Amino acid sequence: MKILVVGGGGREHALAWKLSQSPHVETIYCVPGNGGIEEIATCINMDVGDFDGLIRFSKQESIDLVVVGPEGPLAAGIVDAFQSKGIAIFGPQKNGALVETSKVFAKRMMEKYDVPTAPFQVFSDYGEAASYAEQLTPPYVVKADGLCAGKGAYVIHDRAEGLKALNDLLVEKIFGQAGNSVIIESFLKGVEVSYLGLSDGETVLPLLPAQDHKPLLDNDQGPNTGGMGAYTPVPFMNPQIEMEIDRVVMKRSVRALAEGAVTFKGVLYGGLMLSDDNKPWVLEFNARFGDPETQPILYKMESDLLPYLMACVEGGLSRMEPISWKPGVSVCVVLAAKGYPEKPVKGDRIFGLEDLKGRADVKVFHAGTRKDGDRFYTAGGRVLGVTALGDSYSDAIRKVYDAVGCIKFEGMQYRTDIGRKSLGA
Ligand code: AMP
Ligand code: GLY
Repeated sequence: MKILVVGGGGREHALAWKLSQSPHVETIYCVPGNGGIEEIATCINMDVGDFDGLIRFSKQESIDLVVVGPEGPLAAGIVDAFQSKGIAIFGPQKNGALVETSKVFAKRMMEKYDVPTAPFQVFSDYGEAASYAEQLTPPYVVKADGLCAGKGAYVIHDRAEGLKALNDLLVEKIFGQAGNSVIIESFLKGVEVSYLGLSDGETVLPLLPAQDHKPLLDNDQGPNTGGMGAYTPVPFMNPQIEMEIDRVVMKRSVRALAEGAVTFKGVLYGGLMLSDDNKPWVLEFNARFGDPETQPILYKMESDLLPYLMACVEGGLSRMEPISWKPGVSVCVVLAAKGYPEKPVKGDRIFGLEDLKGRADVKVFHAGTRKDGDRFYTAGGRVLGVTALGDSYSDAIRKVYDAVGCIKFEGMQYRTDIGRKSLGA
């Protein structure tokens, strides 16, 4: 089969790498791809928003399956566009992507169908939002309705901070239309888990739960990022909790969407808070594979990914064998560019990648990189996702940081505590 992967981050490198191992896959194209993907796929220099161009390319190359990574093209209706031309594509239609692109839509769906989530109110008027906020005792949470590149949620600790967040979103419109409506919701305590499930619109097949590390610095300090590292499996999960998540979050949400005439095909990603009594609460939904979570998850996946993606597109996920996983623990540490997340610096030479080629149990997924001859340069905020498989949490952590130690570029930033929560530290 010929596959087209849409996107150019670590998630897309992991997807292309995993798909390249399928006996059914003959060629992979990636738009736009990156320096690492270039080594296993043909990268196409096109705009991921140019659906007509991508459809023309896919017809010309007889692409059998398109796999979409990022939320932008999903929100803009890439799946609808390809489907209308009869080309198989993995991902939800625009109306399914609403679970991610409109937090108000997602919260109202959860409220109506009893999917556990923090109690909330929706506002579009600053005065009304501010007088509601004045009655609350912090902490509480303010969120923009629309996509804000992971920056639209504010945990509020005092009165002034709450009013500033509401003013920024509703009056100053710092995120434009994405802040036309805001949610004010209760603060939930607990541990966060990324719970991703494959869906064909009826059945949800969960992947391994993972834990992301969103803040830039060790001990969850500093500004939020797209994610500085992730590991799987998650030690504080157990089959009972997972069954409960499948029942009250994943299946219930896919059924709720279906009742609203939305057939959700693709990855439903629940960003969950697990409270002290082991109950799952949905903080947000995404309509795609998580990044970096997909890197350690796919590195640990034993089964061929392709038949599962095809079953989501064509239906029949309920007839698939359970996914098999390699034993042990998979940890991914993100290496980010100087200045990330505010103003990442690009164009620095990356050293040390050669030394890691062929190292057992280690894979370096590329995100913001550019290849020039046999040299690699930084070309984005998150640059690399160094991923390792170990027998135990401590073994995987040791292997991944040994590998990180081999890589160097100017101003390289990374957290030194990825996976440490698994050790109870
Ligand atoms: P979101 O974009 O909704 O996933 O929120 C971003 C981050 O804000 C989450 O990963 C949490 O760390 C935090 N957060 C969001 N909602 C809540 C909540 N209701 N209670 C506590 N923390 C939250
Ligand atoms: N790692 C967070 C996300 O993919 O949204």
